[in-house]
Order: sequence, then C-alpha cells, then structure tokens
Amino acid sequence: MTKLIAVLAGDGIGPEVTAEAVRVLQATGLDLAFEEAPVGGQGYRQTGRPLPPETLALARRADAVLFGAVGDPEFDALERRLRPEAAILGIRREMATFANLRPAKLFKGLEDASALRPEVAGAIDLLIVRELNGDVYFGEKGFRTSPAGHRQGYDVMSYDEAEVRRIAAVGFDAARRRRGKLCSVDKANVLETSQLWRDVVSAMAAEYPDVELTHLYVDNAAMQLVRDPGQFDVIVTGNLFGDILSDQASMCVGSIGLLPSASLDANGKGMYEPIHGSAPDIAGQGKANPCAAILSAAMLLRFSLGEGEAADRIEAAVARAIAGGARTGDLGGTLSTTAMADAVLREM
Ligand code: NAI
Ligand code: MG
Repeated sequence: MTKLIAVLAGDGIGPEVTAEAVRVLQATGLDLAFEEAPVGGQGYRQTGRPLPPETLALARRADAVLFGAVGDPEFDALERRLRPEAAILGIRREMATFANLRPAKLFKGLEDASALRPEVAGAIDLLIVRELNGDVYFGEKGFRTSPAGHRQGYDVMSYDEAEVRRIAAVGFDAARRRRGKLCSVDKANVLETSQLWRDVVSAMAAEYPDVELTHLYVDNAAMQLVRDPGQFDVIVTGNLFGDILSDQASMCVGSIGLLPSASLDANGKGMYEPIHGSAPDIAGQGKANPCAAILSAAMLLRFSLGEGEAADRIEAAVARAIAGGARTGDLGGTLSTTAMADAVLREM
C-alpha cells in the first residue's frame, strides 16, 4: 500500500535540503506518495499562521512527516505565537511527539572536520534521547513587573512523573538495543524538576537490570562530551538540556549539517527533521549540507514505515559518499547541496 509522507519544508535552507531528501526517498523504489504543505514563515506568508490547520491535518493524516526547518529573520519582530518557530513547538505538541532521538556518529573521513582531536572524535557513537513535549519550553511563560519595578521575563520549568517515565523508558529501551549504557543528564543539585527526574529514572533501573545507568549534571555532561565523547552510548535528558547538548554533539562529528532526528509519539508515528535550523546566512545559495535531511529520511523509513533495509542503504550511501571525499562548504568542501545529494544517490 502506498505510504503518504507529509513534506513540510519550511523556511531558509529547509526547502533546499528537504528536496534532496525527497529525491533520495524516491530513489529507494518504495511505494511512497508525497504531499507538501506550508509551515513556519512560509505558512505565515500564505495563510497568516505559522502552523495552518490544513498543514496540521496533513501531518496527522500522513504516515510520517518530513520536516525541513522554520525561522525567518523577516518575522523576528512578530509576537511569539505568529513567529515561524511557533510552528515547530505547535506541531510537536499537537502530534504528541515526546521522544526526540538524535544519533551522532563520526563518519569515516571526517576526523579532521571534527572540533575534537581525531582520536577523541573517532570514538563518537552516541544517541541523545531528548524529551520534547515538556520542560521550560512548554511551561507557563510571560512578562511581568518584578518587585523592584523592573520588567521581568519568566518561563516555568516542570516535569511530572509520567512524562519522565515515558521518556526514560525510550532511553532504557534504546540502550538495551545498543551497548547497554544509559546516562541520565539533569541538574538535580539545584533544580527540583531535575530531582524528580533523577528519582524517577533511578527507580526504573530495577526494570532494566541489563542496562548500566549513570547520572551526570548537565554542566559536567557538556564538558564530558568534549573531553571523552566515546564514554557515551545513550544520553536521556530533558527538553532544554537535550537541545543544547545535541547542538554541541553535532560539532563533535564535524557539522550540524550531518545530524538527523526523529520525534516519535507513543505509537511510533513521527516527524523527521535535521537538527539544524533554517540557516538564513546561507539560504538560497545552494550551500547547505543535505546529509542531515537525507539521514532524517532514513530514520523515517526505519521508525515509521518499518523499512529498515532501505534506511540502511541510505545511511551506507551517505557514509560512502563522505568517505569518498564528497563535501559541502560546512565540511571544508565545494559541493553544492544538489551535488552532495547526487554523490549520495550515486552510492545508492
Ligand atoms: P541554524 O542551525 O539555522 O544555523 C547555525 C549555523 O549552522 C549557521 O551558521 C548555519 O549556516 C549553519 N548550518 C545549519 N545547517 C546547515 C547545513 N545543513 N549545512 C551547512 N551549514 C549549516 O541555527 P540558528 O542560526 O541559530 O537559527 C536560524 C533560524 O532557524 C532561527 O530562526 C531559529 O529560530 C531557527 N531554528 C529552527 C529550528 C527548527 O526548525 N527545528 C531549529 C533551530 C533553529
Ligand atoms: Mg536547537
């Protein structure tokens, strides 16, 4: 049966890299149909809303969502709910995609593109499991006047036990399928949210006797990621810490243009997107690295369509293209977005 993929390309380099990911999906020969809808600044321009109801309806109806990026400096002055970025938080909440999987592994040949020493970078093979539906991003927020009479901004950080349990379970399960190590990252020394997080995760360890559980404070985790990233297998953490640590991890493997992600709901339905944003500084120039989007498409096949073999083929093709010297500007090369995707397609 034909599987429907919603293509929400968005802003900036979003459409450029998403088009290449669609080309790669088409090259798998699988029975796939693609339907596009506007989102972000593109959605605002066309309908006055960053997340038009028709776009959300398509995302719900589709078997999986391929997402580009949103964000456009043209709209930075708009109120928050109308800004392009409101679409990404809105769609994550509406689709209840609470589990964000962000794998990071060093591709052979990129040892010198990493911000780390080659022997340190070479050991990176980790998965960040980031909670995506809670934390300070979704808590009560606003502006008010402080007791001293100053304008004050606030964002409430909170997690409940059930939220922590369900994301921790994703982390434990992932560790079980990988090398059996789970590191939970929090800031329990100063935050009550994190104390609860640590209590819940620790209590679950008994259900996973085959997984070795450790805890790190987020500041130490940031340091360890650079000092010795090879020590990590699976990292499970909250929304804010996961956002920051995964961008950091991207530079450890060479470029943010290489890192894909899957955002899954409780039934395995998902949205797939590169971890990078709309990169307005290079948008429209054909310079963006499409690999993060292409690898996101591979995750889509694996997690939402059960097509693990096709996913393997895409991932192997990206690895071979890079090993063979294919490089966009972010990796010190000269290939255009399309030429980089062509190199991947040749390897398929
Ligand atoms: P960004 O990820 O868009 O760019 C950061 C830096 O990495 C830039 O120098 C950019 O040129 C480079 N870069 C990013 N992707 C690349 C690729 N595929 N190939 C080569 N270089 C790449 O983050 P930034 O600049 O903080 O945000 C830009 C806009 O994107 C903002 O409006 C922000 O809100 C939005 N954003 C959207 C996200 C999403 O849609 N999920 C995620 C992060 C940011
Ligand atoms: Mg981010």
